Amino acid sequence: MYTETIVLKITKMSNLKLILTLGVLISASNAKVVNVKNGCSTPILVNVEDTQYTLLSGEKIILTTPPEWSATISAVTLDNQEQQVGKTEAKLSFNTTQDRYSVSLVNGFNLRLKIVPNGSSGCNTALCTFDLLHLCPKNSQVLNNLGQVIGCENEPEIMSYICPLAIVNQSSDNEQICTEAISYFVLFF
Ligand SMILES: *[C@@H]1O[C@H](CO)[C@@H](O)[C@H](O)[C@H]1NC(C)=O
Ligand SMILES: *[C@@H]1O[C@H](CO)[C@@H](O)[C@H](O)[C@H]1NC(C)=O
Ligand SMILES: *[C@@H]1O[C@H](CO)[C@@H](O)[C@H](O)[C@H]1NC(C)=O
Repeated sequence: MYTETIVLKITKMSNLKLILTLGVLISASNAKVVNVKNGCSTPILVNVEDTQYTLLSGEKIILTTPPEWSATISAVTLDNQEQQVGKTEAKLSFNTTQDRYSVSLVNGFNLRLKIVPNGSSGCNTALCTFDLLHLCPKNSQVLNNLGQVIGCENEPEIMSYICPLAIVNQSSDNEQICTEAISYFVLFF
């Protein structure tokens, strides 16, 4: 069973100040909330641009973003910490009129990923929910010390076939656009 622990990496604020700050930010027009959750059974390290968070299984971080914001979010399991290749990425780009988001496999695959907009009926989920590690050709496999496949380098043909909604190379036209979402749920699993 998951414990829904909220990890807030905003330093040295009292809880009350934090709640007040979040309240003010959320009520400011166009501010958005991005929840990033670890749906894996093991801990993961989540990178939001240059900031790293450790999330135990079931934990999430809550990011409150300004109206104009963009970030690449990726995650690795602890045995893949040093790995520079084979990472599934969530790409999010918000401005005051529209949000763009996608699951990118351009830098490879390591974890399944879903980006779900909330607060809007007309917006699509971006996703790659098949474990591509099982189908990774040998020469693209990234192995850990035990010889287990923990990542797969970019393989556009296989990846576009198995995860047709993901971006696999520059000719993929799979960016989602949404104008009404108030929050996003980003799940690595
Ligand atoms: C938001 O971004 C879209 C393209 O992604 C652009 O067409 C639009 O003009 C931008 N709006 C603002 C207010 O910057
Ligand atoms: C979606 O937004 C509504 C309204 O703010 C909120 O009550 C609900 O918890 C959100 N759901 C998720 C999955 O974030
Ligand atoms: C992108 O990948 C698709 C699917 O494998 C392929 O058909 C297409 O030629 C690729 N495009 C480029 C520019 O590499």
